[in-house]
Amino acid sequence: MKDRLKVLVIGGGGREHALVWKLAQSPRVEKVICAPGNAGIGMIAETVPVSVEDLPGLLRLAKDRQIDLTLVGPEVPLVAGVVDAFREAGLRIFGPTARAAVIEGSKRFAKDLMEKYNIPTARYQAFDQAEPACEYIRQLGGPCVVKADGLAAGKGVTVAPDLGTAIEAVRQIMEERVFGEAGNSLVVEEMLEGEEVSILAFSDGETVVPMISAQDHKRVFDRDEGPNTGGMGAYSPAPVYTPEVHRQVVEQVLKPVIAAMKQEGREYIGVIYAGLMITAQGPKVLEFNARFGDPETQVVLPQLKTDLVDIVEAVIDRRLAGQPVEWLPGAAVCVVMAAGGYPGPYQKGTPITGLESSLPDTVVFHAGTENRDGKIVTAGGRVLGVTARGGDIREAIDLAYQAVEKIKFEGCHYRKDIGYRALQRQQ
Ligand code: AMP
Ligand code: GLY
Repeated sequence: MKDRLKVLVIGGGGREHALVWKLAQSPRVEKVICAPGNAGIGMIAETVPVSVEDLPGLLRLAKDRQIDLTLVGPEVPLVAGVVDAFREAGLRIFGPTARAAVIEGSKRFAKDLMEKYNIPTARYQAFDQAEPACEYIRQLGGPCVVKADGLAAGKGVTVAPDLGTAIEAVRQIMEERVFGEAGNSLVVEEMLEGEEVSILAFSDGETVVPMISAQDHKRVFDRDEGPNTGGMGAYSPAPVYTPEVHRQVVEQVLKPVIAAMKQEGREYIGVIYAGLMITAQGPKVLEFNARFGDPETQVVLPQLKTDLVDIVEAVIDRRLAGQPVEWLPGAAVCVVMAAGGYPGPYQKGTPITGLESSLPDTVVFHAGTENRDGKIVTAGGRVLGVTARGGDIREAIDLAYQAVEKIKFEGCHYRKDIGYRALQRQQ
């Protein structure tokens, strides 16, 4: 094992900023390079303008710069086979192969796997034609959920309160082809009720080690109103994730899914992310992702006490069972500051001020930002993830919002109620 590593991180959002921030703290890391990165990442690492979709470009970068270890943020390169390509070239990379990342790349694959191996999930059927899908929706009779099979940048899911909405979603996917090939088939499932929680876990193909729990806030407005977004904030740990729920998730979801993937000849190495609904009947899987979650990673990594490089290397070398993974006490909260209009059309290039002020136990992760001639401007819908750690959730919330108030850009909006479910449970 080398002592001082050159590490490449693929991606350029808040999740990748959190990854780079954590890696940069490791005494084992000599240098971090990020492709393509953003303005915040550029302050603590070297950024190189190679797109996450440019697999040959990423491979060339890793070879040219003699990278020792690569971490992948987003799902697109994983599903496209970045891990396979790097491994074939003899490069060390952390993440699932394309054959394993299909657990996120195809919702139909994930549902069939869960059915075959008895992993708790919503009742469903998969279709590649509109008419039988509509027939099943009528049969279900009540609210249901329609999901395009393939990757759709988080937009392929319609939670349909009534028949008309569900049938319209099928028509858009199958007839209007709004998601292109990602809509060659679709899944219809029953709607589950409960509270959601995200569990990310490290897996070396055999051993699975869950990270601390987190809860995302998908809707754009307070009290979970308005359209879905990529995530407007997160907190961790999530009180809904009790020790009993944890036991169930480990025994009924995490261990079985890793064993199932191995059984199917799709050995799973990297981070597996279980999106769960905690229902009256116990936890059920909404989806699996093949990567770190965003914004969840922005609250999970600041609480990780262990050196991330040690864990990542233990995963790649298949000795995770002997690797400690320890967490700091307390809680963390991340408030996403978004561009005016997001998740609809929004402006880019708006100057951001107040970034230089710093509070203890607070870190501002950049998502859509760009450095234009020394000035930091907006460059995406989700602009910043302001994260704070505190002794408990209340303290973390207060600190995060104090930090948010110091930062300004025209049109900026953010949710004022991040963490409200955790506070409700404490009362
Ligand atoms: P997915 O990408 O499959 O996790 O779906 C995106 C979001 O849709 C989830 O985070 C949930 O908020 C919601 N969702 C998905 N499936 C269901 C379901 N069966 N019941 C209720 N809500 C769901
Ligand atoms: N927070 C949702 C995701 O990462 O997919």
